Amino acid sequence: MAMNADKAVRRVSVLGSTGSVGRNTLDLLLRDPGHFEVESLTANRNVELLAHQARQTRAKCAVVADPAAYKRLQHALSGSGTEVAAGPDAIAEAGARSAEWVMAAIVGFAGLPPILKAAARGATIALANKEALVCAGSLLMDAVKRGGATLLPVDSEHNAIFQCLEERNRDQVERLVLTASGGPFRTWSTEAMATATPPQALKHPNWDMGAKISIDSATMMNKGLELIEAYHLFGLPGERIEIVVHPQSVIHSMVAYTDGSVLAQLGTPDMRTPIAHALAWPGRMPGPSPRLDFRTLGALTFEPPDERRFPALKLARQALVDVSFYPVIMNASNEIAVESYLKYKISFPEIAQIVENVLELIGMRRKFNDNTRDIEFVVDLDTEARREARRLCESRAINH
Ligand SMILES: NC(=O)c1ccc[n+]([C@@H]2O[C@H](COP(=O)([O-])OP(=O)(O)OC[C@H]3O[C@@H](n4cnc5c(N)ncnc54)[C@H](OP(=O)(O)O)[C@@H]3O)[C@@H](O)[C@H]2O)c1
Repeated sequence: MAMNADKAVRRVSVLGSTGSVGRNTLDLLLRDPGHFEVESLTANRNVELLAHQARQTRAKCAVVADPAAYKRLQHALSGSGTEVAAGPDAIAEAGARSAEWVMAAIVGFAGLPPILKAAARGATIALANKEALVCAGSLLMDAVKRGGATLLPVDSEHNAIFQCLEERNRDQVERLVLTASGGPFRTWSTEAMATATPPQALKHPNWDMGAKISIDSATMMNKGLELIEAYHLFGLPGERIEIVVHPQSVIHSMVAYTDGSVLAQLGTPDMRTPIAHALAWPGRMPGPSPRLDFRTLGALTFEPPDERRFPALKLARQALVDVSFYPVIMNASNEIAVESYLKYKISFPEIAQIVENVLELIGMRRKFNDNTRDIEFVVDLDTEARREARRLCESRAINH
C-alpha cells in the first residue's frame, strides 16, 4: 500500500500494545487515524493503559493475558463498545481476528501462539517478537508459507537487512552484517560487570526499550537472538552472518554482495522508523523520527565483539548447530535468568552462566532422543528449560 497516494483503510491489530514497540506503533496509527482501523489490542496486566488505548483507537477488542485482570478491564471499558477478553487463549485468538496487518510485539515465548494464528490465516505480520522466531523458527516459517502470510521484520537490524536485500540478487548475497551498539557495558571490564546492578544494565546508551530486551542488550544475548532470527528470516548459514559492534547505532545493519558492494540502512535510533516501514510496506509513509544530520554526525566506528566478556554471543553461535533444539533451551533459560536478575536474585554474569548450564544439562539429557520437532516438542522443551533455569536461579539466590 503506497500510503501517500492511496487512502484505503487498513485493519490492524497490535499484540503487546502497552509495551515499548506497541506504544510506538500506536503513536504512528494515531498520527494518521483515517488510514487505520484497530481490530485488537493486547496486554499482559497493564489494564489502565490498554483501556486508554482501546478508547483512543476505538478498538473492536481488548485482551489482557492475566485472567485476574478481566473484571478491571471490563469495568474500564464499559460503555465503550470494545469487546473484552482475558487469558492466554484469548491472546492467541487475538491473532486469529480479521486484521490484515498484525504487529507482533508481545515479549518472549508467550507471543508465539497469536503469531501462528495470524500466519495460518495469511495475515501480514510485522514481527518484533524475536523470541518466537528463535524458538520455533522452522515451524513459524512453515506456517507463514502454508498460510500464505507475509512476514515483515521490525527488529531494526532485520528490517535494515530486509530493506537492503535485492530480491533479484538473493543468490549473490555474500554475507549479512548485523550491527550491535555493544550495550551499556561495552567498555566495562569483566570485574566491573560482576557487580553491575539492574538500573545500570537497563540504561541503554542509544535505544529506549522494554526491560527484557534492555538486559539482553547489556549481556549481548540480544545480538545472539538476532543472529538466530536472521538465520531463519534470510536463510543464510551462521558463518555468513557477521556481528560487528557499532556504538553509534546509526547503521542498523548491512548486506554484502559478491561484487564487493555493501548496502546499509541508516537512521536515528527510533523504532518508529522500522515500524513505519512495516506499516506502509511495500510503500512508504511519512515518519516522525528525528532525522540524521550528516554535517554534525561525526565518526561512525566499528569494532569486533568480545565473546570473552559477552559469552552469550558464543552460546548463540553454538546453538545454531541444532537450530530447532538449542535455541529453545537458550531462550527459555535466558528469559528466566533475566527475570531473576531484575529481581536481584542473581548477578549479571550469572545470566549467561545459567543459560550455559541449562544448555549443557538438557543438551546431554535429551539431545539424541528427540526426532519430532513439532510445536508440542518446542513447548515441552521450553517448559523443561524454564524449570531447570528456575532451580539454578533459586540455588544461586540462596548462596548470595
Ligand atoms: N523495544 C524495542 O525497541 C524493540 C526493538 C526490537 C525488537 N523488540 C522486540 O519486541 C518485543 C517487545 O519488546 P518491548 O521492548 O516492546 O517489550 P515491553 O516493553 O516489555 O512490552 C511487552 C508487551 O508484551 C506484553 N506481555 C508481556 N508478557 C506477556 C504475556 N505473558 N502474555 C501476553 N502479553 C504479554 C506486555 O504487557 P504489559 O504492558 O501488560 O506488561 C507488553 O504489552 C520483544 O520480543 C523485543 O525483543 C523490541
